Amino acid sequence: MEKVLETARIICRESLAPLIVRLRLHSPGISAAARAGQFVMLKVREGIDPLLRRPFSFHRIHPDKGEIEVLFRIAGRGTLALSKLGPGDPVSLIGPLGNGFELPLDRTTQIAFIAGGIGIAPLGELIAQALSGPGQTQKAHLFYGARSASELLPEDIVSQFGLRVHFATDDGSFGYKGRVTKLFEEFTARADEDFRPAEVYSCGPLAMQYHVAKWALENDALSQLSLESLMGCGIGACLGCALPAADCGPGDDQRFVHVCEDGPIFSAGSIKWNQILIQQSPPPTYLFS
Ligand SMILES: Cc1cc2nc3c(=O)[nH]c(=O)nc-3n(C[C@H](O)[C@H](O)[C@H](O)COP(=O)(O)OP(=O)(O)OC[C@H]3O[C@@H](n4cnc5c(N)ncnc54)[C@H](O)[C@@H]3O)c2cc1C
Ligand code: FES
Repeated sequence: MEKVLETARIICRESLAPLIVRLRLHSPGISAAARAGQFVMLKVREGIDPLLRRPFSFHRIHPDKGEIEVLFRIAGRGTLALSKLGPGDPVSLIGPLGNGFELPLDRTTQIAFIAGGIGIAPLGELIAQALSGPGQTQKAHLFYGARSASELLPEDIVSQFGLRVHFATDDGSFGYKGRVTKLFEEFTARADEDFRPAEVYSCGPLAMQYHVAKWALENDALSQLSLESLMGCGIGACLGCALPAADCGPGDDQRFVHVCEDGPIFSAGSIKWNQILIQQSPPPTYLFS
């Protein structure tokens, strides 16, 4: 698919939580081609600070208006600078990039969306598409967790997504106390709830995604996981976003996939999770609790 380099203008900036900002951008070329799950490489401003573009998923896509929305968490220099821009300011975008989500063709399939922290961002457009149109998905639940209530989008915003939402926070300050994947596993095992998703869509930290992948593989569910990786270029040139693939290359060598070009959406079975966990040493409390 053709990538577009476009100078977008900010139409609207909203602060939704202490560190979470939503931007609506006028970007007609990119919005016309964008799909849920794809992303843009965004340069906050000309010059060397910050030097590299940063990846952001499409939170919503409005091709009819020539607009896109991004939802981001202030995590460092680039996102802090971006959070200070406002209506009329230009930002340079390259996109749409990556492969994107695919919704099931059979709209009676039960599906689960699982978001950890700012992983809610790409699920916004996917959920909107799943719930719209004549063949809309009949049974879909969103499981949405964060470290604490202040890192969640406000409940009234999430309720606008239009599906049943289950909240979790690690510290118990809102919803279920504990990991969102634990809440998901407990809910799907409940006899009084007729919810056995045949497909899961998720986005969040790799340690969370490991648990989603494990559940999907053990329960024979299809899965589409939006995976994160540090990205230098976003277009397959720097090899900075490599993750170990489950299958091997020629001569039994380890094969790598690139999140920017082969992903960011991967099935649970396509990634060598054990190797990532060893390399990245995520918090052991998450992995083994
Ligand atoms: C395909 C893709 C889509 C993304 N979509 C979104 C989105 O919609 N909304 C959003 O808020 N964030 C998203 N991210 C993460 C976002 O790109 C980073 O938070 C951002 O680049 C941080 O830039 P910074 O200059 O503010 O932080 P930096 O100063 O560069 O780093 C601050 C901290 O953020 C971490 N970080 C930097 N880049 C990434 C990254 N790519 N993934 C995870 N952690 C990172 C660093 O390790 C460091 O701890 C996405 C990442 C990818 C790979
Ligand atoms: S980010 Fe450069 S190759 Fe993927």
